[in-house]
Amino acid sequence: MKQILVIYYSQTGQLNSILNSVLAPLKQDPEFSIEYREIVPRVPYPFPWSAYQFCDVFPEAVAGIPEEMDTVNQDRMEDPDLIILAYTVWYLSPSIPISSFLQSDEAARLLQNRKVLTLIGCRNMWLLAQERVKKQISTLGGQLVGNIALTERTGNLLGILNIATWMLSGEKKPLLGLLPTPGIAEEDISQARRFGELIRRAWTRDRLRLDQAELNTHGAVRIDPALMLMEKRIWPVFQKWSAFIRKKGSRGDGAREKRVYAFMIYLLLAVVILAPFSRLASLLQRLVQNKKIQEEMRYYSLG
Ligand SMILES: Cc1cc2nc3c(=O)[nH]c(=O)nc-3n(C[C@H](O)[C@H](O)[C@H](O)COP(=O)(O)O)c2cc1C
Repeated sequence: MKQILVIYYSQTGQLNSILNSVLAPLKQDPEFSIEYREIVPRVPYPFPWSAYQFCDVFPEAVAGIPEEMDTVNQDRMEDPDLIILAYTVWYLSPSIPISSFLQSDEAARLLQNRKVLTLIGCRNMWLLAQERVKKQISTLGGQLVGNIALTERTGNLLGILNIATWMLSGEKKPLLGLLPTPGIAEEDISQARRFGELIRRAWTRDRLRLDQAELNTHGAVRIDPALMLMEKRIWPVFQKWSAFIRKKGSRGDGAREKRVYAFMIYLLLAVVILAPFSRLASLLQRLVQNKKIQEEMRYYSLG
């Protein structure tokens, strides 16, 4: 019997749907046993979010400051052959529930000497979050065997508008009936079952030697150079904002209210005004640094 332990946090259930799709071929195979471990925030994050709450989680998400989590379905699996760590991205960082889990004693116990497959479901920017997750898995003695990242199809600007509407209204509906439905396309979610097939086949071949290059030929990881450059450009600015706000207190502290609102304005301006310039800057950068950018894309595509 091959044992898989799935560790996950999904706020709206989108990531759960992706998980269900990926795991479907494995669930049908009697050779596999699957157990779930849900990370549950002791104080749930609001949904829908108010604009303020949405921005107030930013400093801690970026700084990777852990918050209190409970766990549901304590794992009984003694020795899983594979751990699937399914996570979403908050502000270019692993979501606070997942980053908190990765810093816990349980994660240290569970991940040591284990094979770990990461599964990401986010809007479109996950590269730097995965760098942090990768580092943490390795610090805990785990071995990353592959990465699958599902993202939204909608372009960057409309995508931001779409997800903001979804997160702040709580309704996953097309804005004014004009834009595409927010979130990852249903078709992409249902087709994610192909990854489950690949895992099953890899396991039948030998003891789960997943090959990222093979996963990538099935679209596991796709790197958009413009988004990659944008992430790298935004990240140092995010770190500065995070430190600036945290100087006034932690999440929920009224003393930092003004700074959180200032960040909110920055975010709006960054989306509306800076993002198009950033796209242009990325284009120019690709003209002069093409080789370096290709190397970086190759690096990120390897998991
Ligand atoms: C506070 C917050 C910040 C987010 N920041 C990002 C981000 O930086 N990059 C990204 O691709 N998606 C981002 N997202 C979208 C999530 O990764 C994810 O797609 C969405 O929250 C749905 O996930 P769910 O399965 O938890 O419901 C953010 C979502 C939230 C709630």
